[in-house]
Amino acid sequence: MSADTENAAILDAFRAAMRHVASTVYAVTTGPVGDRHGILATAVSSLSFEPPSLLVCVNRAASLHEPLACAETFCVNVLGLANRDIAEAFERSRGEERFTLGDWRQEHGVPVLANAQSYFICRTAHRHEFGTHTIFIGELIDAKHREDATPLTYYDRRYIDISQASERAPR
Ligand SMILES: Cc1cc2nc3c(=O)[nH]c(=O)nc-3n(C[C@H](O)[C@H](O)[C@H](O)COP(=O)(O)O)c2cc1C
Repeated sequence: MSADTENAAILDAFRAAMRHVASTVYAVTTGPVGDRHGILATAVSSLSFEPPSLLVCVNRAASLHEPLACAETFCVNVLGLANRDIAEAFERSRGEERFTLGDWRQEHGVPVLANAQSYFICRTAHRHEFGTHTIFIGELIDAKHREDATPLTYYDRRYIDISQASERAPR
């Protein structure tokens, strides 16, 4: 097997396996009204409690990348089932147009979705490039959450309602 064929096989296996990893859906946003930017992301993780921090992996080709690289603050909006329309709007539009749907407000100078399941406003603390992506590490400056939200989950290339899943894992 050539190295190219082997690499293609590894990538195929990675894609197929990742497709079946159920992920929370986030809208990562930055910028002032009139120049707001955001993308949908699943490559987001809590990083540490000391300091409270999280990380976001953003493709350097994404429209958010440059504004995020220049911004001091950004927001990680955790989408709930009630925000599925926001996920779909982000998929079909670009730039400021992504913010025409939904109750977006400015807090700490960044767009937050008022009825998101939760949101985390961060100050960029560190950036690390790897492959096609930049990992942005943010230190938390504010967070809010709703007790009553059901998560929006991305699984097998579609949005699902995880609350409808069986509580028991099959053996
Ligand atoms: C469910 C879902 C998850 C995504 N996760 C990420 C992600 O974690 N990081 C990333 O850079 N792009 C991710 N993308 C792609 C971006 O949301 C976006 O579509 C892509 O960067 C092109 O955006 P642009 O048109 O603003 O350049 C995801 C897309 C979808 C639909």
